[in-house]
Amino acid sequence: MPAAILDGKKLSADIISGLRAEVVAREQDGLAVPTLAVILVGGDPASQVYVRNKRNACEQIGIRSVMHTLPDTVTQAELLALIGELNHNIDVHGILVQLPLPAHIDPESVIERIEPHKDVDGFHPCNIGRLAVRMPDLRSCTPYGVMRLLALAHDDLKGMHAVVVGASNHVGRPMGLELLLAGCTVTTCHRFTRDLASQVAAADIVVVAVGKPGLVKGEWIKPGATVIDVGINRLPDGRLCGDVDYEVARERAAWITPVPGGVGPMTVAILMENTLRAARKGDRVVTEMLLQQAGV
Ligand code: GUN
Repeated sequence: MPAAILDGKKLSADIISGLRAEVVAREQDGLAVPTLAVILVGGDPASQVYVRNKRNACEQIGIRSVMHTLPDTVTQAELLALIGELNHNIDVHGILVQLPLPAHIDPESVIERIEPHKDVDGFHPCNIGRLAVRMPDLRSCTPYGVMRLLALAHDDLKGMHAVVVGASNHVGRPMGLELLLAGCTVTTCHRFTRDLASQVAAADIVVVAVGKPGLVKGEWIKPGATVIDVGINRLPDGRLCGDVDYEVARERAAWITPVPGGVGPMTVAILMENTLRAARKGDRVVTEMLLQQAGV
């Protein structure tokens, strides 16, 4: 029997409608409108699409999104200065810098400049470090979105062998930490891994996040495994596909994510959850300020 589908489109829509209710309740309580500052540098068409999707989700929920579009000639100093201003602005709860950035800008310095409590992407070393020491706060959106999809398939991941293919800072590494936190035995594969096929064949859960169509062959998948494909690749004929050979993998796996409609929408839903979480942190800052002003 072919694998059951892990439907990220449906789960993200459910999450988004729950967040909408929370924003309405905040409004009734007189709390600040959750606000996300979005910084887009240059005119990369894929980034423009991703940013549009994120802003549409904000609009559905009632989150205010404030766009900062900068030319690709912007200097690193200018970008860091803008982030510094947004860090200090109490009306801004979350800051998102869309990646990739032009080659003359160091992305790690940019991410590090964002205050960790406004880092709604969950990319700041403090937020990744919190996850590493089992004190998660703002969690990286794609890996945490994957965990929410896995929860549809499995009540408990303890003792399962999870294999993550790809060791990027933004997906592969925090993905391994999430799975470890959930009690999995985790293997991370990367460009120096010697025998990718045998690693994947041993996995109860495979998460692939590399960006190479057809990297993981369907025949490698252990019968009954759960397959999560984070890759989003555009084929020459314009179609989207993941990193896993979907048709063959689907015949072997018990659960699988489609591309599109699997992990992608979950990244946006978790970004929205993080923005609400950051707004709640903002509420506490404002309350403390008011108490201080009142001399309490
Ligand atoms: N570029 C591709 N994916 C992402 C993401 O999740 N966040 C940001 N900031 N940039 C991206």
